[in-house]
Formats: sequence, structure tokens, C-alpha cells
Amino acid sequence: MRRRPHAHEPDRGPIRVQAAILVGAILLTACGGDNSGSARDRTADGALVYHVCIGCHGMDGRGVAGDIAPSLIDSPLVLADDPAPLIMLLLHGIENDGRWPGLMMPWRDALSDEQIAAVLSHIRSQWGHQAPPVTAGQVTGLREATSDRRQPYPRAELGIE
Ligand code: HEC
Repeated sequence: MRRRPHAHEPDRGPIRVQAAILVGAILLTACGGDNSGSARDRTADGALVYHVCIGCHGMDGRGVAGDIAPSLIDSPLVLADDPAPLIMLLLHGIENDGRWPGLMMPWRDALSDEQIAAVLSHIRSQWGHQAPPVTAGQVTGLREATSDRRQPYPRAELGIE
């Protein structure tokens, strides 16, 4: 059996450096702004997870051009003292009744309890918001309590118009 000539490994040096700069830039962006201990860590994780929401809700939470999805700013649901409806809608999504062209899909399989807690704590503490953080334990409890749910929630069931 003839051996194929061994392909020469390209020199990856410059690519590695670029990747390192990119990762550094992302971490800097995620950590920027807040300097307070564990709250900062939670916000940093949440800021990273929030990247999966940006396409519809926008970097600034106000939605994107074309009104795909509602603004999260000053949303009573986002800011409610009791975060249960918020956690439930993240886990299972909102039924699309045609009001918005976008779809608030379920995230139960894509995001862990820690990631859901982090992203919800993030949107509850950004843009001037000051609602208390959501804990991973709260998400775990509701994930278990609603584990047989397969349909997204109609808005009325979440207490929103
Ligand atoms: C593909 C687009 C899309 C993505 C991605 C998306 N959403 Fe949504 N979201 C929507 C739409 C559309 C609604 C409105 C649904 C309705 O009320 O019918 C919504 C509603 C919401 C609401 C309720 C707001 C209110 O006051 O009524 C919250 C909170 C929310 N999304 C959070 C998130 C978070 C957090 C993420 C990221 C993990 C996310 N969304 C990702 C489209 C999206």
C-alpha cells in the first residue's frame, strides 16, 4: 500500500493570535460596565447567553428593525417580582397568534438552568432595569414542575395581554 505524501501542516500562528484577540474582545464586552463581585459574574454569563436573543430583541433590548419581536424595556413580565411566568415562557415559548412575525421558541433543550437564570438575570438588570436576579434553582424547580408541557403558552396564561 502506497503512503500518501504527508500534507504540510500550514503555519497557524497568525490565526491563533487572531482567535485569541477575538475571544478577548468578546470577554471584555461581556464583562464591561459592572464591577461588583458575583453580580458581575452572573451578568457576564447572561450577556453571553443573550447573544442568542439579539437577532429578535436587539442588542439594546428594544427589538430590531421590522418589529420581529417586542421590546423588553420596561416589560412588566421581565420586571415582575415573581419571575415564574418569565421562566416558564423561556422554557416553553409563547404561542404564535400572529401578532408578531417572529416566534418566541422554547429554550428548554437549548439552554441549561444556569444559562436561563443568567440570561433572565441579565435582562432584569440591563437598560436601567433593577429587578432581582433569577436563580438556577428557581429554573430547575419550574422545569420539573412543567416537565410534561409540550406546547408553548398562550399569552393569557402568562398574564400578558
Ligand atoms: C426568533 C426570534 C426570537 C428570539 C431569538 C427570541 N425571542 Fe423572545 N420573543 C419573540 C417574540 C416574537 C415574542 C412575542 C411573542 C408573543 O407575545 O406572541 C417574544 C417575547 C419575549 C418575551 C416577553 C416580552 C413581553 O413583555 O411580552 C421575553 C421576556 C422574551 N421574548 C425573552 C427572550 C430571551 C431572553 C431570548 C433569548 C434567550 C429570546 N426572547 C429570544 C421572539 C424571539
